[in-house]
Amino acid sequence: MAVLPILRWPDARLSTRCAEVGVVTPAVVALAGDLLETMYAAPGRGLAAPQVGVLQRVFVMDTGWKDGPRAPRVFIDPDIFWMSEDRAVGPEGCLSLPGLTTEISRARAVHLRWTGLDGALHEDRLVGFDAICAQHEFDHLDGIVTLHRLSAEARARAEAEYRA
Ligand code: NI
Repeated sequence: MAVLPILRWPDARLSTRCAEVGVVTPAVVALAGDLLETMYAAPGRGLAAPQVGVLQRVFVMDTGWKDGPRAPRVFIDPDIFWMSEDRAVGPEGCLSLPGLTTEISRARAVHLRWTGLDGALHEDRLVGFDAICAQHEFDHLDGIVTLHRLSAEARARAEAEYRA
């Protein structure tokens, strides 16, 4: 495993839709390990493959490790197939937009289906911070960062703050 450099916005790779992985090869397993090591080193609670320049649909997260034991999770070819209509607005940062925190509206709960490192399909219901983190990382796989979720006015303010 290796700690990889994290790309910073506006690197074009952060605005690119990533490709499906399909088969979980040893290279994909190695990528997941690198993503986790890079996330823990950052330190962060989620990281998506395009953030290290790999344009594949993989993200990792561990939302609780800063307050308890590590529980790394790897999501390959994830699909958010249900989102609650109930939404919440909260502050979000991003390792690719260091120093910037923006208020983003997210579904409070999501149902997610993904391929695991074991190659099998998994399904789970995520709520609270887990749901927010998964939506944030999933966005990265579609080339979407927090700035894209803001109104034009709020985005202009955030971009000015980020560049300053
Ligand atoms: Ni991010």
